[in-house]
Amino acid sequence: MAVLDVKNLSKSFGGLKAVSDVNLYVKKGELLGLIGPNGAGKTTIFNLLTGVYVPTSGTIELTGSRGERAEIGGMKPYLTARHGISRTFQNIRLFKNMTVLDNILVAMHQNARYTLLEAIFRLPRYYSQETRFAETAAHILALVGLDQKAGELASNLPYGEQRKLEIARAIATGANVIFLDEPAAGMNPSETDELASLIVNLKDEYDLTIILIEHDMKFVMGLCERIYVLDFGTIIAEGSPDEIKHNKRVIQAYLGEEA
Ligand SMILES: Nc1ncnc2c1ncn2[C@@H]1O[C@H](COP(=O)(O)OP(=O)(O)O)[C@@H](O)[C@H]1O
Ligand SMILES: [Mg+2]
Repeated sequence: MAVLDVKNLSKSFGGLKAVSDVNLYVKKGELLGLIGPNGAGKTTIFNLLTGVYVPTSGTIELTGSRGERAEIGGMKPYLTARHGISRTFQNIRLFKNMTVLDNILVAMHQNARYTLLEAIFRLPRYYSQETRFAETAAHILALVGLDQKAGELASNLPYGEQRKLEIARAIATGANVIFLDEPAAGMNPSETDELASLIVNLKDEYDLTIILIEHDMKFVMGLCERIYVLDFGTIIAEGSPDEIKHNKRVIQAYLGEEA
């Protein structure tokens, strides 16, 4: 079953067509890769799929967990979040002056189901939900190996841990479709290996569908089940890692010469 079905998606910035007539789908539970040279339009596609940009044309159909369908093209990010979509950014965007734990709790509170009055008077529904949030947050932090750093400021974490915290925060929203924009950027090979197994573990634990952009080919090829290759805003190839590795157009796009 397709969780996302994207048809004829385009995005122009002035005269520049950053994304041009893209068709793609994402199956439920899939770990999908989106690769391509710098400036190919990968992040723009993420921005379109998560509501940051309004498409110039085309449709993005999301099928929810109960089989309900919604057109999410042009929907604001807080609304795509309600449809179970969350993401990380190419340039990390944490609440830097908040603790690690609070970064997670803030993400969880979009699911809070108590009223302001219940919160002010600390009524039972407030307490029971806050207790559950704290437990879930501790669990997520333990999964990404940050439970010992719950009280530290996010800005004090080393780079690789900030990336992990951002992933943890995306999951803490309760999303089941997660977009990761260059999650391994700036990591060394052993951190990258660790990140790959972390992503697999999180996907299993939370029953996630994951779409990721990444330049590290070993990482992408080892992790993704299926890959789309983008060049100059259009999809030039789709297939298994093995098919992509041997695709002439892909090799040409990366090497910039006749394969
Ligand atoms: N907000 C924007 N305004 C103008 N041009 C943009 C904007 N965002 C992206 N672009 C342009 O669109 C193209 C694709 O960019 P991007 O999606 O960031 O590529 P990638 O993530 O594949 O490196 C680039 O030429 C980039 O300069
Ligand atoms: Mg990008």
